[in-house]
Amino acid sequence: MLRQPAPVPGPAYKGSLSGSQFLSMCRAIRSGLPAQRYRHVLGVARTAARLAHRHGASPEKARIAALLHDIARGWPAAQLKAYARKHGLPVTPADETSPVLLHAAVGAEVARTEFGIEDEEVLGAIRRHTIALPGMTPLEKILYIADAVEPSRTYPERTKLAALGNESLDKGLLACLKSSLTYLMSREVPIDPGALALYNQLVGRREAAL
Ligand SMILES: [Fe+2]
Ligand SMILES: [Fe+2]
Repeated sequence: MLRQPAPVPGPAYKGSLSGSQFLSMCRAIRSGLPAQRYRHVLGVARTAARLAHRHGASPEKARIAALLHDIARGWPAAQLKAYARKHGLPVTPADETSPVLLHAAVGAEVARTEFGIEDEEVLGAIRRHTIALPGMTPLEKILYIADAVEPSRTYPERTKLAALGNESLDKGLLACLKSSLTYLMSREVPIDPGALALYNQLVGRREAAL
């Protein structure tokens, strides 16, 4: 069982966090995660803040969403399902089959209730960080890309995907999505129709620009 994170002291986060609140949040996150997961989280936070700065989004929101995105990633399946039921979070048939998927929605709820995060943009990015769908916000794209390309990831095309993300959020998103779809197809895992719709949309947009 994971230790419960300490709540962020002071007022709830609604758009900015003081330095001491930020450090307190980092300490609480570190105390609830294995070292390797915390290293990943820090990598995602640095990458997401850089992408946000480059593409005109809020680096602070990107950093906070990234720091909290995997807060429930290590929870056992039974704990994720019990938490989702207790907090009235939707549990889909896919979640029943693969409860690890719930770590995104559960993580957003933990961010809200334990860390005082009230900013819907931040919570939405955490809630949907495993889901690629048409209509993603810039912050959702940033977290999705940063999660895939942060420096502790070791797959061969990581640096190429990171460079595409630096160039354009949609180019980075398409490259990360293709990498994920290729992996899922190689394992003959069903593909979510939303992910395919996003792929078609991004490819169609690129074709239209040619
Ligand atoms: Fe995750
Ligand atoms: Fe992650």
